[in-house]
Amino acid sequence: MLEVKLLLTFPVGIEDVVREEIREKIDSCIIEESPLDTPGKLIIQLPESKRDVVSSLRSVDSIMDYLGSFKVDKDKSALDKICQEILNIDFPEDFRNASSFRVTCDRRGKHDYTSMDVEKAVGQVLVDKYRLKVKLEGFEANVFIEIVEDACFVGLLREEYLRGRYFVFHHPAAIKPSIAYAMIKLADVKPGMTILDPMCGGGTILIEAALTLSDVKLYGFDISEYFLEGGVLNSEAMSLSDRIIFKKVDCRNLSKIVDFKVDRIITNPPYGTKPIFKINPRPLYLKCLIEMSKVLAKDGKIVIITIKPDCVKNALDKAGLKIEHERTVKHNDTNPEIIILTKNG
Ligand SMILES: C[S@@+](CC[C@H](N)C(=O)[O-])C[C@H]1O[C@@H](n2cnc3c(N)ncnc32)[C@H](O)[C@@H]1O
Repeated sequence: MLEVKLLLTFPVGIEDVVREEIREKIDSCIIEESPLDTPGKLIIQLPESKRDVVSSLRSVDSIMDYLGSFKVDKDKSALDKICQEILNIDFPEDFRNASSFRVTCDRRGKHDYTSMDVEKAVGQVLVDKYRLKVKLEGFEANVFIEIVEDACFVGLLREEYLRGRYFVFHHPAAIKPSIAYAMIKLADVKPGMTILDPMCGGGTILIEAALTLSDVKLYGFDISEYFLEGGVLNSEAMSLSDRIIFKKVDCRNLSKIVDFKVDRIITNPPYGTKPIFKINPRPLYLKCLIEMSKVLAKDGKIVIITIKPDCVKNALDKAGLKIEHERTVKHNDTNPEIIILTKNG
């Protein structure tokens, strides 16, 4: 029997990777993709015994117990509609027995009401119906209302779904772990391979690689000692420090430092848009891709994510590389491209 319904959120553009990971890890489940025509979401129905497996999915950004979804208008009438729908939802026993709760609303799109209006209105409906105490800190249950344009999703957030997502050092330009996981899957890594992120920052790509792959050698380089220390801290927090070799290297000198062939280079170079990284991406990408190509094994692949795909394409001829695959993904408010490169001939 399929007793549990969960709402999963993931970056738009990696649907195939999410589908494949669910197929690999959960055999018996029903999937509803893009509920209410909302990309980047799916509802999964599965047996209670598989609930824990879902929190191990690396391709998803968030998980919540699914309670309902419906369309809402952009004007204030939506508040009445949301309250009516909430009244019709049968909240589960553990919510009804909770000592306290809060409502959290996350809203994307233009609406004539605020997230706080939704939180207040829904909170009052639940207090009246279930006689529970509202607590904004230290609450036991967290009702989550997510409004994406005209689609409204209602669920319960649980702490156990956040397991394995704890990073102690936050790099200012960190990539989402879900996208890092997708890049690793797209890299088609085989046992025994050597993987390098030559601009590893806080180490997200390598940590996801260590969590996903066994029997691989992992190297993380960065020009900044400070970010490398962050990478070490993050890998220690995930008990993975013995799996990754971190080293201070300027990627523009890669071939002078690396005396072995690398099978997969998976990396997220700076885009030159943050004042903290004062770089001009075009010459940096050119120099780095030439160097990466020199250390890449004959059948090697480079998987790169950037909002500056033109800077990658500009470097291809000089670096002796060609494009094998490219796709756009959604990363917060940006739409970077993941580009897979192989040696040209
Ligand atoms: C976008 S960040 C990588 C963030 C990382 N993916 C994460 O999730 O934490 C780019 C990194 O490239 C590094 N970098 C910039 N120029 C470099 C160079 N010439 N050689 C090596 N690393 C460089 C920066 O220090 C920065 O940490």
